[in-house]
Amino acid sequence: MPIETELKRLKEAAGAALAASKNGRDLDLFFAEYLARGGKISSFLRGLKDVSIEERRTAGKEANLLRQETERKYAEKKRALRGEVAAKALDLTIPGKRRERGNLHPLTRVRMDIEDVFLGMGFLVEDTPEVEDAKFNFDFVNMPAGHPARDMMDTFWLENGKLLRTHTSAGQARVLSGKKPPLRVLIPGRVFRREATDASHETTFYQYEGIMIDENISLADFKGVIAEVMPRIMKREINYRVRPGYFPFVEPGIEVDIECFLCRSGCSVCKGEKWIEVMGAGMVHPEVLKNAGIDPRKYRGFAFGGSIDRIAMLRFGIRDIRLLWSGDLHFLKQF
Ligand code: FA5
Repeated sequence: MPIETELKRLKEAAGAALAASKNGRDLDLFFAEYLARGGKISSFLRGLKDVSIEERRTAGKEANLLRQETERKYAEKKRALRGEVAAKALDLTIPGKRRERGNLHPLTRVRMDIEDVFLGMGFLVEDTPEVEDAKFNFDFVNMPAGHPARDMMDTFWLENGKLLRTHTSAGQARVLSGKKPPLRVLIPGRVFRREATDASHETTFYQYEGIMIDENISLADFKGVIAEVMPRIMKREINYRVRPGYFPFVEPGIEVDIECFLCRSGCSVCKGEKWIEVMGAGMVHPEVLKNAGIDPRKYRGFAFGGSIDRIAMLRFGIRDIRLLWSGDLHFLKQF
């Protein structure tokens, strides 16, 4: 084969082999085959000793150029491949992405604890609407239109004549109607009042309503229930007191206070009283039972409506109820 043809083929073969090299291993093989001592290019150069001086000069020059050119392209490809690998590689020095860990809102935690305690005592947990008819919020709980007690709660009225429930007692008739005692139901939920706020009053807060109806229920049963429930939802031994209170839907009516843990000598939450009111309660008024289709001569029972927010405040040492509704993550992340 003429020497130029041999050189031309070598050039083409080297070019094709380099182009076909896709990774480091291919490149190493390419180097060994073409560029190493004893590789095809140096063998070609060595073979020139057998050809005429004339041919040796031109072919030798070209073959040397081929070697330089091939070495350059080989080095270039090696660099490019290294760059690709580095770009794909896992860089362990990059700072990690911090995963935000959420936590339950303190009001959610207290509500879940309250539900657990009452479920354990055989109560059903029910949801009733936040947007209510006046008949459920007022009429069925013995506060007909014109009743002065209706003004006790400043109400958010809606344009369609409905209202935002002012207390979870609005659910009483809903959970009692059409059912036959014995009944034990808990209604936790949000309530709304159009009133000025302070450290212990919000316009939106959570209540848990409880109602227990059977043939022989008395206030002693209620006291038994709260004696069991209060320390369990407060997560510690507590001092509480029960005193008379007025609500049109119970007779007699009572209120429950817990000793203020936030202060020892009076603070903005208990307003110097050292007691915080956490619940209204009493024996369900016969009219309310009648409204729900239950015979008050046969059945009676107690009902209570407690504040979830105030339990959360006492339990976690929160000095202003408004913090619970602020949406401030710096505050909420502490719980
Ligand atoms: C009632 O809402 C009655 N429905 C409770 C009841 C139910 C009585 C069943 C008898 C039988 P009262 O308005 O007092 O009652 O509210 C109950 C509790 O909610 C209070 O003891 C107090 O702890 C809490 N509370 C009342 N107003 C607010 C407010 N604006 N912000 C936060 N908590 C409040």
